[in-house]
Amino acid sequence: MSEQQRFDVVVVGGGIIGLAVAWRARERGASTLVLERGETGQGTSRVAAGMLAPVAEAEFGDSARRLLELGLRSAELWPAFAAELQERAGIDVGLLRTGTLLLARDQDEARELERQLAFRQSLGLRVERLRPSQAREREPALAPSMRLAIEAPEDHSVEPRAVLAALRRACELAGVQLREHAPVAAIEHDGEDVSGVVLADGEAIGASALVLAAGAWSEQLAGLPTHARVPVRPVKGQILRLRDPAGPGLLRRVVRFQGGYLLPRGDGRYVLGASVEERGFELAPTAGAVHELLRDAHELLPGISELEIEELSVGLRPGTPDNAPLIGAGALGGLLWATGHYRNGILLAPLTAELIAELLDPAGARPPLLSACEPLRFADPAPGGGADRAPSSVALRS
Ligand code: GLY
Repeated sequence: MSEQQRFDVVVVGGGIIGLAVAWRARERGASTLVLERGETGQGTSRVAAGMLAPVAEAEFGDSARRLLELGLRSAELWPAFAAELQERAGIDVGLLRTGTLLLARDQDEARELERQLAFRQSLGLRVERLRPSQAREREPALAPSMRLAIEAPEDHSVEPRAVLAALRRACELAGVQLREHAPVAAIEHDGEDVSGVVLADGEAIGASALVLAAGAWSEQLAGLPTHARVPVRPVKGQILRLRDPAGPGLLRRVVRFQGGYLLPRGDGRYVLGASVEERGFELAPTAGAVHELLRDAHELLPGISELEIEELSVGLRPGTPDNAPLIGAGALGGLLWATGHYRNGILLAPLTAELIAELLDPAGARPPLLSACEPLRFADPAPGGGADRAPSSVALRS
């Protein structure tokens, strides 16, 4: 019988979060394995548009305020993260610092946009109110019927598929082991400590620390006691990839409107997204969602009629009850969650990786931002675990 493999860190899920976490853990010296049930970077992360837009995504409420705090910090990390990936992997991840325009089509939407403007200003966020003529000076292709715009000059974008390729390469070069087509059948634990995983083919792998980064599938991982589980639900998003045969120039900034967004890649390609649907794990593309995206975008940017459709894709965002992420220690020793990023997985990848790497490092401190994304906020109170148990850092046991 062959000896069981054992790693300091096993990451379940090879999307942007899992790869970023594995890269950072390996850089700090941990032997690290990524287990991916399909192929790395071929799930939800690949469908994502790539907006880095904490200001545009800001919403009212306590959990949204915590999410904003996380988003602003991660947005700050992105330029260095992108530069490091370029340096290590030799891949340009397409960071475009274009800013974002939030648009109103009619009087009702304009009233709502004024409310959103005042809200962002009250938080000290950098936003500017633009009259339609000012917005059209910046983006001449916008429809003259447009009523109002807000500019968020610090909300940018990256190309998630390039990020995934770069992360994969950086992981390989750093010595992370990547196992594809390796679905996890069950998480193993020894009392109140995780001990590893068993794969669908029966192979057991030992882990000192287990990071669950399986996105919308995180809740389905078998083997965890009830009090150690966290609630994550799939939220379906349908998204179109378009291309202008005339080349770049139709639109420079990301534009957002009620019902969607259009993101220019700077080379004549555009991403038009996205539906937000509560349909469980259903992945079927639908005519209705595509119709609504195109109709809404066309009202603001008639020129999109000339674009060619390159791809329609469907992804499942990992939503949580408050739609803020789950990053940090779970209810079992050695268990960490890095999931529930909902609409912000690309934005929050550098920060998530940094927070988890800090927790995994025996010499690491507990970063204050962890209190904004505490997984145990949803845990079942249970003897010896769950909500009663104070979060702790997960120093690797040797
Ligand atoms: N981040 C945008 C979306 O989830 O559609």
